[in-house]
Amino acid sequence: MMNEPRFFVRDIPVYGDVILAPMAGYSDVPHRALCRSFGSCMQYTEFVAAEDILGGSRKPARLMDFKPDEHPRVAQIFSHSADRLFNAAVSVLERFSPDILDINMGCSTRRVSGRGAGVGMMKTPLLVAEVFERLAKELPIPITGKIRLGWEENENYVEIGRIMQESGASLVAIHPRTKEQKYNGEARWAAIAELKQALSIPVIGNGDITTPADINTMLAYTGCDAVMIGRGAIGNPWIFARRSRAELTTAQLFDAIRFHFHEMIAYHDTTHGLSMFRKFVKKYLESYPLSREQVRELMTAADVPMFLMRLAQVEHELESAEKIGASKLAQLPSTG
Ligand SMILES: Cc1cc2nc3c(=O)[nH]c(=O)nc-3n(C[C@H](O)[C@H](O)[C@H](O)COP(=O)(O)O)c2cc1C
Repeated sequence: MMNEPRFFVRDIPVYGDVILAPMAGYSDVPHRALCRSFGSCMQYTEFVAAEDILGGSRKPARLMDFKPDEHPRVAQIFSHSADRLFNAAVSVLERFSPDILDINMGCSTRRVSGRGAGVGMMKTPLLVAEVFERLAKELPIPITGKIRLGWEENENYVEIGRIMQESGASLVAIHPRTKEQKYNGEARWAAIAELKQALSIPVIGNGDITTPADINTMLAYTGCDAVMIGRGAIGNPWIFARRSRAELTTAQLFDAIRFHFHEMIAYHDTTHGLSMFRKFVKKYLESYPLSREQVRELMTAADVPMFLMRLAQVEHELESAEKIGASKLAQLPSTG
């Protein structure tokens, strides 16, 4: 964390330049707490349908839950309807007290974008203008949005960014791929630089960051105010401290895995927490020399004691391998 704000979202200071991306199925309270402990400086919920907020579903209460000290906290919502977005925003403010409200204009799945929500909104600039004008005028907190390049036939990210800014948006985050690209091909960082040049409100750059060096490269190359990391942070929260997993000792790696696991079990119920943790543990261990069988055993542990026992076994094996590796290195002839 920095001592001075790096930038402001309207009047809200942000003390850092690396942010955990909103990710459905991953951006829960425990994962956000973990990433924040390593330096993520702004906390997004995953996207929540305005319809779920207005329809009395129990989902939003879990997805928009925040720890008391979690600031700035950003609640992300989506819909194709200006009215629903407005009503949902009012309800989110009353129930969950976010510091910032974000409109998802990036989701490319057919279920969302096909109905004109998510990146579907980028096809209707008038709707974007209406939504931001209304929300920014009538709600007391800053309104922001997360976009893509646009659709293949019309990459209108600069136009949409300008419309957002003119309509009162306080920040734009961009994942520079088209709707059709989904997550394929490379994120086009040049588009982040172009958007930053075109706007005076803060711009967050996103896409394909997996190492601490990538963070600095994106910041330098695009001039963006902060970078946002999604997939590259799963099982790799050290990236927020600009540390790479390769620098960690086995003990540090397993301490973080256990911390994350206990947070999950404490927050979700045991069965749910255990099953939700599987996708994380796979990512934590993916770059280590473990057999498929070892990973499978860990993933299928039936209860908490069994999981912790198998985790300890894996840790022990990796530690032994680390020692053997170190002693082999020590035996090498010195080149000095
Ligand atoms: C599993 C998953 C879930 C996602 N859910 C959301 C979401 O709820 N809201 C959103 O704005 N973007 C969502 N995204 C997009 C990410 O925020 C980010 O823009 C994208 O993954 C590119 O960044 P990365 O290369 O750092 O992962 C999701 C991405 C993934 C992989």
